[in-house]
Amino acid sequence: MNQTIEILLNHSSVRNFTDQPVSEETINTILRCAQMAPTSSFFQAYTIIRVEDPEKRQALQEFSGGQKWVTSAPLALLFCADVHRNMGILDVEDKEVFHNTESFTVSVADATFAAQKAFIAAQALGLGGVVVGGIRNNMPGIAQLFNLPDMVFPLFLLCLGYPKHKNDPKPRLPLQFICGVDQYPTIDNDQLFADYDKEILDYMHQLTQGRESFGFVDRLSFALKNKPRYEVTDFVKSKGFLKK
Ligand SMILES: Cc1cc2nc3c(=O)[nH]c(=O)nc-3n(C[C@H](O)[C@H](O)[C@H](O)COP(=O)(O)O)c2cc1C
Repeated sequence: MNQTIEILLNHSSVRNFTDQPVSEETINTILRCAQMAPTSSFFQAYTIIRVEDPEKRQALQEFSGGQKWVTSAPLALLFCADVHRNMGILDVEDKEVFHNTESFTVSVADATFAAQKAFIAAQALGLGGVVVGGIRNNMPGIAQLFNLPDMVFPLFLLCLGYPKHKNDPKPRLPLQFICGVDQYPTIDNDQLFADYDKEILDYMHQLTQGRESFGFVDRLSFALKNKPRYEVTDFVKSKGFLKK
């Protein structure tokens, strides 16, 4: 199989890393690949912060609810949606345009595409990693820690390193659920969904040696109940986004 396709199809998040450091050359390649991500109107509306300071890592780990890989990963990249930089250099008549929902959407999409490219580049170079959105439990804390100006907000931390252990890929939804042809997909086969739920339950059961017995629906319901993060709206608005 084509090597790139193999990497993509074998993706699974890695949360255990060896002590092997990631060389500057490798980091540079990962960052340059991130930069080559497609970007809406060429805005490049994102900023990446390499988090090296152990105290800052520790703070992020606490924000994330104690996720160990936030401090153990040799490389941690904080991806931020960023409209601030362009506001400083663009001379537009309608200044409010920066604060509309479209600008918000563009910056989130740009940062996310860049992060995905960084992730794939890292995987192609033999690294593994995990996206940690759990740091958004404390967005004001992150803003303070990294001196984030208005019109910048942190999305997630990409933790990378050489894998100590890699899980089998987690089965995704049957393709017909997520891809329609010419219209929104409608699926009138409940059994398909029940089978997928059971597939995830079995996968998690095996992965955790019986400690976790949640199917797909239970997992998602649990996440929504425990991490609604309503306060993210206030934070994002306080930073100047979504005002229009
Ligand atoms: C935006 C985003 C936030 C995530 N946040 C976390 C997180 O805080 N902690 C974690 O362990 N994994 C996190 N993940 C990883 C997902 O749990 C993981 O990608 C998903 O369960 C699928 O598993 P896989 O990546 O192994 O295929 C996050 C992924 C994304 C895209």
